[in-house]
Amino acid sequence: MSETKWPGPKGMIPEPERNAADANLHNRRYLDELLVEMRVIDAYEPDLTLNLFNETFSSPIMMPAFSHLNKVGIEGRTPMQEYAAAAKELNLVNWVGMEPDEEYESIAREGARTVRIIKPFMNHQMILDQIAYAKKLDALAVGVDIDHVFGKNGKYDVVDGIELGPVSAEDLAMYVKAAGDTPFVAKGVLSVTDARKCEEAGCAAIFVSHHHGRLPFGIPPVMALQEIRKAMPHTKMKIFADCSIESGYDAFKALALGADAVSVGRGILPGLLKEGKTGVIRKVNRMNEELSEMMGYTGIGNLSEMDHSVIVHHGNHL
Ligand SMILES: Cc1cc2nc3c(=O)[nH]c(=O)nc-3n(C[C@H](O)[C@H](O)[C@H](O)COP(=O)(O)O)c2cc1C
Repeated sequence: MSETKWPGPKGMIPEPERNAADANLHNRRYLDELLVEMRVIDAYEPDLTLNLFNETFSSPIMMPAFSHLNKVGIEGRTPMQEYAAAAKELNLVNWVGMEPDEEYESIAREGARTVRIIKPFMNHQMILDQIAYAKKLDALAVGVDIDHVFGKNGKYDVVDGIELGPVSAEDLAMYVKAAGDTPFVAKGVLSVTDARKCEEAGCAAIFVSHHHGRLPFGIPPVMALQEIRKAMPHTKMKIFADCSIESGYDAFKALALGADAVSVGRGILPGLLKEGKTGVIRKVNRMNEELSEMMGYTGIGNLSEMDHSVIVHHGNHL
C-alpha cells in the first residue's frame, strides 16, 4: 500500500483527496469499469460510416476542438493545421477551438469539414462575428464551449487577455439564430438540466464534456450521456462526447451508451507533436481498428445498431 503523502506547507489536504478533485481521474476509472459482453453469433464485419448533418464521414471518431497549439511544426505548419490535414485525409469531422479568424481560416483551408467552437466571450458581438466568419467559410457547424465560463479563482475567466462571460438560455437562442442554417453545438454539457435548456434554445447538437476537467469532481461525461439519453429519449439533437477517449474501446463504450460520435482529445497529442499528420493518422487508424473489433464481437454491424445493453457495470447491464 502506498503511503499517504502530505503536501506540506502548500496546504492541509492529503494528496489522494487533491487528486480526487481531478475529473479526468474519474473518467478513466469509470470507462475502465465498463465491461462488454460478447454477441458473436450472426456477427459480421462492421461498417463505421457516420452520417452527420447530411454529410458522410468514414468514422464516428472525430478530431478534438483544440486551440493554442501554436508551436510551428514541419515546414512552418502548425499542429492545428496538421490534425486538420489528417481529418481531411481520413474523412473525419474536424473541430477547432479558440482561434482568431485568420488562424481559423488557415486551418479551415486544409479542406476538412470543420466545426468551429467559439469561447463564451463577455462581448457577445465577438461571438456573433466569429459565427458569421465560420459561416462564410462554410463550417460544418459552429458552437460555443459553454463550460468555459469560470477560472480556477471562481471569477469569469480571461483567456489571451479576453474576458469570458456567462451564457444564458437567451444567449444560446441568439447564437442558434445567428448560425441560421448552420447547425449550432453547445459544447460542455454535463447534466440533463443543461441539455434540456440547449434543446429549448434550438441547438442542433450538444457535446457532453467537461473540457478535460474544468469542473472539479465533475462526473464522467459518459455517465452524463446515459442520463441525458434516458431523460430525453426522443431528442432530435445530435449528442457528442469526449474526455479520456483514448482508444477505440473507449470510443465504443461512449457510442454504445448513446453518443452519435466522439472526439479523441489529448490521446492524439503524442503522435501529433512528434510526427504531425502522420502521427494522427496512425493513432486514428488504430482506434478505428479497435472500434471495429469491439463492434464485431458485440454483434453491432453499424452505428445505427449501437446498443447500451452490451455494456456491464459492476455486474449490471446498462
Ligand atoms: C491544448 C488544448 C486546447 C484546447 N482548447 C479548447 C478550446 O479552445 N475550446 C474547447 O471547447 N475545448 C478546448 N479543449 C478541450 C478539448 O476540446 C476536449 O474537450 C478535451 O481535451 C477532451 O478531453 P481529453 O483531452 O481527455 O480527451 C482543449 C484541449 C487541449 C488539450
